[in-house]
Amino acid sequence: TRIYVPSETTALSLGADEIASDISAVLASLEQPPELVRNGSRGLFWLEPMIEVETGAGRIAYGPVTPEDLPGLLEAGLLEGAQDHPLCLGPTEEIPYLAQQQRLTFSRIGVADPLSLSAYEAGGGFAGLRRAVALSPQAIVQQVTESGLRGRGGAAFPTGIKWQTVLDAGAGQKYIVCNADEGDSGTFADRLVMECDPYLLIEGMVIAGLAVGATEGYIYLRSEYPLALHRLNAAIERAVEAGYLGADVCGSGRAFALEVRLGAGAYICGEETALLDSLEGKRGMVRVKPPLPAIEGFLGRPTVVNNVLSLAAVPYILERGPEAYAACGQGRSRGTLTAQLAGNVERGGLVELAFGVTLRQLIEDFGGGTLSGRPLKAVQVGGPLGAYLPESLWDTPLDYEAFAEVGAMLGHGGVVLFDDSVDMGEQARFAMEFCAVESCGKCTPCRIGSTRGVEVIDRIRAGESPEANLELLEDLCTTMIDGSLCAMGGMTPFPVQSVTRHFADDLAPGAARRD
Ligand code: NAI
Ligand code: SF4
Repeated sequence: TRIYVPSETTALSLGADEIASDISAVLASLEQPPELVRNGSRGLFWLEPMIEVETGAGRIAYGPVTPEDLPGLLEAGLLEGAQDHPLCLGPTEEIPYLAQQQRLTFSRIGVADPLSLSAYEAGGGFAGLRRAVALSPQAIVQQVTESGLRGRGGAAFPTGIKWQTVLDAGAGQKYIVCNADEGDSGTFADRLVMECDPYLLIEGMVIAGLAVGATEGYIYLRSEYPLALHRLNAAIERAVEAGYLGADVCGSGRAFALEVRLGAGAYICGEETALLDSLEGKRGMVRVKPPLPAIEGFLGRPTVVNNVLSLAAVPYILERGPEAYAACGQGRSRGTLTAQLAGNVERGGLVELAFGVTLRQLIEDFGGGTLSGRPLKAVQVGGPLGAYLPESLWDTPLDYEAFAEVGAMLGHGGVVLFDDSVDMGEQARFAMEFCAVESCGKCTPCRIGSTRGVEVIDRIRAGESPEANLELLEDLCTTMIDGSLCAMGGMTPFPVQSVTRHFADDLAPGAARRD
């Protein structure tokens, strides 16, 4: 038998290492101790640290476990998988939060030791790459196009079309760059892939390389993810040894080398062209497009820049076929959306679902409402540049087009909840302030506009000519949307305008602040 204690940043921050060492000490005194495995996290964060015990009837889960709970749990028969304890959650796979998801990309998350190659292979890992090796580059691109996969970083551009552009860009050096600068508020899905299933990202990148004819790849990782850095580097080393990376990928005669590069903590370096500048060793400044990175990217060569989740979706598509992936979802939003529930939420965590369920289902059925127990007031979807949605919009289906229709966006899937004690006027101010701090400074509407935006909001809230200043704010938002070079300045007005439209009372002078 085995006992599993997660080794993933959330669980570790909640004491998983201490629990593991306490369990180790107990196991050392046994004659035939079960094996202690440090797995990843299943993404059920409100239950972390969640311990699992393998039994004849499958894996039994316990959580959230603190070091203080351990003696009682052991006494109740933890090592035998006894279920008679208040922290016992029953069979892991039957926990409703997990059982009701459609995990295609995240099917292996938290199941095994993230660095175990044999566990990855046993779970179907590298089957997609093996199939890709037998296909022509055009056939691989075709499969990705047919799957309907769209960029999961936020912009939802069809991945197959992006790959086709790079494939068609002629011969010569090309690159695959993975955008792992996960900077959106409330998001952690990229981190989970890299910490808990790193071979999945590696496999997706090698397939991308074979598809477009690129022989080198870079993972641009935010420096705030030290565990992901460690896991990725260790996984790359093992994948090279096993022949999945290197001079001769799976005996195909084709090469693919992979390297991790660290960012230095700038939000704008998540924008693909600023990322490329940073990767080239320069200060991260947004480049004018065109030329697109697909034509002139890293070091001026054709480059695929994809988010972690886009690349991580690819092995499934190659293994099971594009139809299997496209069978999930609705309209032009095919496959699954990886929502990340955060903020003032009862059950925070990762929820992978086919596109089409409503935001309300996500925040109520999975999230369970607010952690504070107070009424939910607003939900921000899509990171700091996403709109704040009032209750009247919670029945919007999770679908790229449906969200765009109501002036919102799904972005990278971050879903942050706020209860009725939130001051939405302050949130509007924060959007402008965030932009002022993070702006790369290249264009005027963003660099100057965001600072002026903070000042105008302050004047409105102080009761200085509120009507005239509201008009000015609207004007400023339009200028930023129409005149900014990239999404930073171009989308900052969305959360601001969602407050003026849906939560105008909070902007009014003297509006009641937190009680
Ligand atoms: P975009 O719409 O300009 O481009 C989308 C992607 O498609 C880019 O990679 C672009 O190079 C590519 N592309 C466009 N036309 C192409 C063509 N004909 N052939 C090949 N490739 C083509 O959007 P952008 O500025 O790259 O991203 C904005 C999005 O980023 C926002 O919608 C926001 O949701 C998201 N975002 C995500 C963050 C995160 O942490 N994941 C943080 C901030 C914003
Ligand atoms: Fe830089 Fe802002 Fe202009 Fe984007 S919109 S290029 S972040 S100044």
